Amino acid sequence: MSVLFTPGTIGNMELKNRFVRSATVECLCSDDGRVTEAYLKVCERLAKGGVALILPGSYSVNQLARAHPRSITADTDEVIGDLRKVADRVHPYGTKIVAQLNHRGRHANRDLTGSRPVAPSPVRVKPGLFKPRPMTTDEIERTITDFSDAAYRVREAGFDGVQIHAAHGYLINQFLSSYTNRRKDEWGGSLENRMRFLVETYRSIRTRVGADFPILVKINAEDCVEDGVTLDESISFCKTLDELGIAGIEVSGGIADKGLVTVRGDVPGDLVRRNRGFVQRLLVRLMENSMREAARFEEAYFLPHAAAIKKHVKAPVIAVGGLRTPAVMEEAIRTGQADFVSLCRPFIRQPNLVNRMERGEADPISCTNCNRCTLEIVVHHSPLRCYYTPS
Ligand SMILES: Cc1cc2nc3c(=O)[nH]c(=O)nc-3n(C[C@H](O)[C@H](O)[C@H](O)COP(=O)(O)O)c2cc1C
Repeated sequence: MSVLFTPGTIGNMELKNRFVRSATVECLCSDDGRVTEAYLKVCERLAKGGVALILPGSYSVNQLARAHPRSITADTDEVIGDLRKVADRVHPYGTKIVAQLNHRGRHANRDLTGSRPVAPSPVRVKPGLFKPRPMTTDEIERTITDFSDAAYRVREAGFDGVQIHAAHGYLINQFLSSYTNRRKDEWGGSLENRMRFLVETYRSIRTRVGADFPILVKINAEDCVEDGVTLDESISFCKTLDELGIAGIEVSGGIADKGLVTVRGDVPGDLVRRNRGFVQRLLVRLMENSMREAARFEEAYFLPHAAAIKKHVKAPVIAVGGLRTPAVMEEAIRTGQADFVSLCRPFIRQPNLVNRMERGEADPISCTNCNRCTLEIVVHHSPLRCYYTPS
């Protein structure tokens, strides 16, 4: 039997195989952020399709954290009933479910939040001219509490764990990275100071959810921008989290200022330019060549980073990014480069791909990395589906 279909554990979660569905924004809730039947069906199809662990699209921890409409904000107890429906839909299939908690910081959406996005420091968001507002110490402390309150609600709803989103250039990553964190107080500067937000968030969640509830993290092994988080820095962050008791580490990379470096593949120019003003379209045009270069696809593009981190931690490591062929995934686990494999875009097209792989079907994954889903969903907030159209 392939090692991919052997059980594994993350914290106290027993997983039936080594496949994870990486967090994926759905934009399938109602306009007021309530769970819909369409949302539940996406989760159920994945569970039926054989994946051991599902991470739904990230849940915002407060109103200022939001970036996508028709998505979940876990900032009041009213969300618990909705989340219970989600957990109840997947558990009968022997599938676990973990909620990713996020604050988008400088990438929050003003149209949704009604106010200027906040960040560690006022660093211009590319492509564009906009600058976020630096957070006060009070705001930082309140936001950390918002993470732990959201985690508590998730646990109450019967989820199996939470994942702190510390990757992809969102708020926690913004604190970790010298590129976006220029603070001179105890929240910026040294490695220890830049990590304070993440460490305090972990501690605050742990206090709120108790000793046994798994807390995972998704982290950038590299930001892939000048002055951004480097692999060496990321290893230090992961070692600290490991000592604190993190249950699992999903290793990703890249921030949006650099384009599609997190989700490598094609750069669909029509969708990149759609609905942008004249100045932004011009800036995008100027960036397009470097965007294409940064997004050049190669199989398992963050696996070497996951393997490097794995050498330094006890916690299970989850590889993500361009995993597309069974042989590569099998080798990643068999040779100890990672403990789990996590996929996003392929599951949008084929929620049943784990069952297909278990049946030994030839070329079970047909995702072409065209990135039309990425732009349609993440940028234009269209509902989750595969938007590939063969030319
Ligand atoms: C439509 C879409 C939505 C995504 N939403 C999230 C998200 O909510 N949280 C997150 O950490 N990553 C998100 N990602 C990134 C994926 O989880 C994953 O890290 C990335 O797509 C690389 O994996 P893949 O090559 O298997 O697609 C999203 C990606 C896509 C394409």
